[in-house]
Amino acid sequence: MQDNIRPESMARINNPELAAAFINEQVEAIQKQVGDKKVLLALSGGVDSSVVAALLIKAIGKQLICVHVNHGLMRKGESEQVIEVFGKQMDANLIYVNAEDRFLDKLAGIADPEQKRKIIGNEFIEVFSEEAEKLEGVEFLAQGTIYPDILESKDGVKAHHNVGGLPNGMTFQLVEPVMLLYKDEVRVVGEALGLPREMVYRQPFPGPGLGVRCLGAITRDRLHALREADAILREEFDKNGLAGKVWQYFISVPDFKSVGVRDGKRYEGWPAIIRAVNTTDAMTATIEEIPYSLLHHITYRITHEVEGINRVVMDLTPKPIGTIEWE
Ligand code: XMP
Repeated sequence: MQDNIRPESMARINNPELAAAFINEQVEAIQKQVGDKKVLLALSGGVDSSVVAALLIKAIGKQLICVHVNHGLMRKGESEQVIEVFGKQMDANLIYVNAEDRFLDKLAGIADPEQKRKIIGNEFIEVFSEEAEKLEGVEFLAQGTIYPDILESKDGVKAHHNVGGLPNGMTFQLVEPVMLLYKDEVRVVGEALGLPREMVYRQPFPGPGLGVRCLGAITRDRLHALREADAILREEFDKNGLAGKVWQYFISVPDFKSVGVRDGKRYEGWPAIIRAVNTTDAMTATIEEIPYSLLHHITYRITHEVEGINRVVMDLTPKPIGTIEWE
């Protein structure tokens, strides 16, 4: 699948008509590929997997089994939202797996970014195959792979977990209906499928989740601090009208401490790094200018509300040269 390159003749999907044509094509292709078999989908709740879920629900209904793996690397409140939207509102076939300890135990002491990605990707596949074994007639695995994942894995920039392939002995065939689309096209397709706007336009979140933002070897205390700081950043961007304006914004927390002072005492803590970027296709990105007054407010909240963080800094590096994620 990785070798499939988007044909030059393929038009950029930027309006409802082109999206509708794409959907019809894909619905037919999925029905043809899958027949009466069942399909498992890794539903993280991000834009890509949500759009794939909606496409598959349209094509094959309850033959789709969505598996939401809480790998312990989700943002605050995210798993709860997946259960609410897909399990309750969309009435999808949804299995919730709490695999937090499993992932964090495997990742303990692993500092190398590519190794972390591989561990997370492989563990994902493991969890799915275990779920699949409990079910009858599952022959397919759907994935929200998009075109930049393929390009960057091909160029050796990053091993995106979606493009890692399946381990030997696994018999799933892949269903990857948006693999030739750029992110902006995935959103247009999502809207045409009738997904709620806030879901379609929500910022992307990488498969390895907070794992690539808790830099170096992940520890539970630093991961917790990262999750809380990230929730404050998101809340403030929402409240101040930036959520719809900035493509992706998040916190990374590196694996070192600096000296600070709190209540007259030495207070060592990690820095929280803010990244806020704009892009259309994630291949290049520019830095969004955030009002200084808001940055001061966010800094105050994070340093006062999050245990373990004693500084807030801002990453002003465009892509290239910095990738959007730090790892
Ligand atoms: P980078 O860091 O490569 O990120 O500039 C480009 C976009 O892709 C997201 N990203 C990922 N998405 N699996 C994913 O599904 C991954 O392994 C992964 N790594 C990065 C990143 O958040 C950004 O939107």
